[in-house]
Amino acid sequence: MDSLAAAALAARDHAHAPFSHFRVGAALEDVGGRIHTGCNVENATYGLTICAERVAVFKAVSEGAREFRRIAIAADTDQLTPPCGACRQILWEFCGNIELILVNPRGAAESIRLSDLFPRPFDASCL
Ligand code: THU
Repeated sequence: MDSLAAAALAARDHAHAPFSHFRVGAALEDVGGRIHTGCNVENATYGLTICAERVAVFKAVSEGAREFRRIAIAADTDQLTPPCGACRQILWEFCGNIELILVNPRGAAESIRLSDLFPRPFDASCL
């Protein structure tokens, strides 16, 4: 298995999902080859929940990373889980048209580009 996919699956083990029980992991590779991981962290108000992808992006940015190559996203679903709308926006703004690798624990994997999921984005070029 690709090491980025393995990192996303491992990050999923840290998910804090007592409300949905839907555990997600993400692993974001920067241009230097460093891997920044994230998991979903839920909250009793529900609305303050943050997805695995945004945790990975914000952790990476907070540590100075600014250019990224690929992100792997892991959930235990047969129909592989794509990023939610809010995460698509954040991924677009920080990672551009990044490669997404969607995986599950049974070895299923699919690679797609963010622009396939998020056509005609709003970003700073629109301002
Ligand atoms: N979730 C993610 O972490 N990433 C996704 O791509 C989809 C949804 C989380 C948010 C929430 O904790 C749970 O999955 C159910 O929506």
